[in-house]
Amino acid sequence: MNNIGNMIQFQIYQEMLSPEPNPNKLPVVYEEWGEKAREVLKDGPYYYVAGGAGSERTMDANLEAFNRWKLVPKMFRNVENRNLSVTLFGHTIPYPVLSAPIGVQSIIHKDGELASARASAELGVPYITSSASTIPMEKIAEAMGDAPRWFQLYWSKDPDIAKSFVQRAEASGYSAIVVTLDTPMMAWREYDLKNAYLPFLAGEGVGNYFTDPAFCAKLDQSPEEDPLSAIMHWTQVFGNASLTWDDLAFLRKHTKLPIILKGILQPDDAKLALEHGVDGIIVSNHGGRQVDGAIAALDALPLVCEVIQDQIPVLMDSGIRRGSDIIKAMALGAKAVLVGRPCMYGLAVAGEQGVKEVLQNMIADLDITIGLSGVSSVQDLDESILTKEDDKRILRPSQI
Ligand code: FNR
Repeated sequence: MNNIGNMIQFQIYQEMLSPEPNPNKLPVVYEEWGEKAREVLKDGPYYYVAGGAGSERTMDANLEAFNRWKLVPKMFRNVENRNLSVTLFGHTIPYPVLSAPIGVQSIIHKDGELASARASAELGVPYITSSASTIPMEKIAEAMGDAPRWFQLYWSKDPDIAKSFVQRAEASGYSAIVVTLDTPMMAWREYDLKNAYLPFLAGEGVGNYFTDPAFCAKLDQSPEEDPLSAIMHWTQVFGNASLTWDDLAFLRKHTKLPIILKGILQPDDAKLALEHGVDGIIVSNHGGRQVDGAIAALDALPLVCEVIQDQIPVLMDSGIRRGSDIIKAMALGAKAVLVGRPCMYGLAVAGEQGVKEVLQNMIADLDITIGLSGVSSVQDLDESILTKEDDKRILRPSQI
């Protein structure tokens, strides 16, 4: 949709002309979604979503990193028609935005992943189904029709499950496999420990496992007959801390889909990813939920892109909150970004409609901000639009 920003903006302003204020009006300000989510969620689920690892300094760093880069808008550039589309792995998507893989959404809203997947599908935003979704991947696929979707793999300790997951994903119309590398085990999350809250132990987020033939084959009784034993078995097979780069060959053997590695922060790992022939990478620190004190994802992005040299797409997440964040990430080399927590606050507050409005508003903001910055296509974004806070070159008249 061309110039979605102006359209959405106008739609919202038009409410001014209606005689009665809309009692169901949802937030527009990002921070208000978070505040409203806090009101509707109990401590356990709220902190599971909003919290991070350890001191949560990585979570803060993700946001601060965006703030250190400033846009330097260009003028007189004919920005009447903007193009936000990007092509990834042979498919063109309307906006450089994907819905990040997020598990256990049933703890936030009764419709869980189905609401998020439907909202993404409506906008043409690819939805990345998590291995840890409460609703099984086939049901999510069914709710999405032909809309684009990827599957995120938590690589199980049991290779039969890992193999089965990617094959099920391929069979139900997912078009890429995102392998999350940063979660071979749950991180030290102080709030979840304080609240003694791990939703999987209550049978949430295990939908893909409980419907998986390879998982069920190792149980004495079905998960319906003996859920507790099934959950205990899940705790044994969920993560796999023994994986190394050599294991990628196993995955390549079992799927023809593009393989995208999520959680890359080291330039050397980017080099290894290239050497092992993966199809894409996602620079991410899991929203500050895994390694306390880790580098902000945005700060890791430039060096990773320097290694990759456009040979494969580099995506990023961790800290995307507004349109300008997307512009900064793309100017530093990302081909597209993943949106995580904002969608979850939308889901908590207003289900499918909430997720849709969060994404739609962020895309509208992107469209308007890119235009105001003097750029008419996201594909033209580069570092010429950016300056760093401590870099005063831009102010020196001799250089203008
Ligand atoms: C996640 N994330 C995540 N990642 C993944 O690969 N598989 C998963 O199942 C989950 N689950 C999950 C649950 C919750 C509640 C959150 C908040 C995050 C990480 C997610 O994909 C993404 O990397 C982060 O959300 C990005 O950080 P921000 O922008 O949301 O802060």
